[in-house]
Amino acid sequence: MKIIVIGATGTIGNAVVNKLKEHHEVIKVGSKSGDYQLDITSPEEIEKMFKSIVNVDAVVSATGSASFKKLEEMTPELNSVAVQSKLLGQINLVLIGQHYLNTNGSFTLTTGVMKDDPIVHGASAAMANGGVASFVKSAAIELKNGIRINAVSPNIVEQSLDKYGSFFAGFTPVPVDRVANAYIKSIEGAQTGQNYNIY
Ligand SMILES: NC(=O)c1ccc[n+]([C@@H]2O[C@H](COP(=O)([O-])OP(=O)(O)OC[C@H]3O[C@@H](n4cnc5c(N)ncnc54)[C@H](OP(=O)(O)O)[C@@H]3O)[C@@H](O)[C@H]2O)c1
Repeated sequence: MKIIVIGATGTIGNAVVNKLKEHHEVIKVGSKSGDYQLDITSPEEIEKMFKSIVNVDAVVSATGSASFKKLEEMTPELNSVAVQSKLLGQINLVLIGQHYLNTNGSFTLTTGVMKDDPIVHGASAAMANGGVASFVKSAAIELKNGIRINAVSPNIVEQSLDKYGSFFAGFTPVPVDRVANAYIKSIEGAQTGQNYNIY
């Protein structure tokens, strides 16, 4: 398969790429890194990517930013980071990409544990995660041409503890390899409308 991985140089994306590249052609995408550069917050750049990279069977999104702030410090502007990036960026990949993907293709998006297991500072990210998860469940029944869609909801991964561990006291981190397997299941399996909780 020919597979676009957005966020390919990130902690999760890199683990997904390492598994996929054994059996597939992988195009690595980031805003500054990778084989192709794209800002996921720009619908114009998403359209341009699908026009430039043709004959694609699967799209993975392992990216999406959010502001981590106490609720009392969260502002509409800070909240819009998650809206534009993690929520609309990922959803726009599907809205635009559905018209370009090969028959029987697939989308795999990324949410996260905070939608089910709240943490302080996590409301904005949780909002985006919940929106993406609901979109995936609903979009699955309407996508045409055998195109499937799933989301992966990782717990805090062991490899990210240095960066985010202080937010996740009492959580049991998961190895990134386990998280990456869920993307493989989504791409190589037959399921659709699923949200894989890797907790
Ligand atoms: N790590 C965890 O423990 C964990 C747990 C649950 C959920 N998640 C979610 O999983 C996703 C990936 O997390 P991660 O920790 O692997 O991220 P990461 O290590 O920070 O990597 C982010 C990746 O996204 C790319 N990127 C950043 N901004 C972009 C943009 N505007 N447009 C396109 N690509 C962009 C980066 O490449 P460039 O630098 O080239 O832009 C990089 O490849 C996020 O949505 C995160 O919330 C992570």
